[in-house]
Amino acid sequence: MEVVIVPDAKAGGALIAEAIAALLSRKPDALLGVATGSTPLPIYDALADMVRSGSLDASRARICQLDEYVGLPADHPESYRSTVLRQVVEPLGLTESSFMGPDGTAEDVQGACDAYDRALSEAGGVDLQLLGIGTDGHIGFNEPCSSLASRTRIKTLTEQTRQDNARFFDSIDEVPHHVITQGIGTILEARHLVLLATGEGKAEAVAQTVEGPVSALVPASALQLHPHATVVVDEAAASRL
Ligand code: GLP
Repeated sequence: MEVVIVPDAKAGGALIAEAIAALLSRKPDALLGVATGSTPLPIYDALADMVRSGSLDASRARICQLDEYVGLPADHPESYRSTVLRQVVEPLGLTESSFMGPDGTAEDVQGACDAYDRALSEAGGVDLQLLGIGTDGHIGFNEPCSSLASRTRIKTLTEQTRQDNARFFDSIDEVPHHVITQGIGTILEARHLVLLATGEGKAEAVAQTVEGPVSALVPASALQLHPHATVVVDEAAASRL
């Protein structure tokens, strides 16, 4: 695992955007796995700036989701489908045809999860997966105690994660209880994992991810098992390393 400490979130975003640009120059139709939450926004801003200035041609990039709420209509502004379309797909000048994600509205939720895992491998696998980290060490929505070999499946959110994500909704009552997430085993199949963590609130989770034992209690610690994992942290998130 490679750990890169940057001064702040903007510098982290710029660094990761450069890595994505380098990947797209080698492989223009790379499949990029994207994460939601506030942390990756500086990456998406930097990528959109590169596209606007003409220094990046992302027109053949393909984008896929990491996770999704169960039961929110696909066009709900806080569904991860809507979020990724708004924050990544549209700013990069892409269309929905270059985008894939699990169907959080399916009646057969496990069927939708299995279909998504199949779709990812039929698409050739994820070339670079962006990850954030929850305050409890979760990646995607793999909460503590998730199997390190897990596949895409339905999970129940912890109260902590619902509280953390309540800021995106009018009240905590609107935060769904269930989600679909790529499993830890699914995530580990991506060719390159890039986790960005910023702010003091992530310092403990980062320390356990990087320096603690590999444990289902800290799902992000599974990155230690991956041959090509990069953890980018700002000074505050690195403060307990
Ligand atoms: C959610 C997402 C994760 C994300 C996490 C942290 O739980 N499912 O993918 O990493 O939030 O979000 P933030 O970056 O806003 O702290």
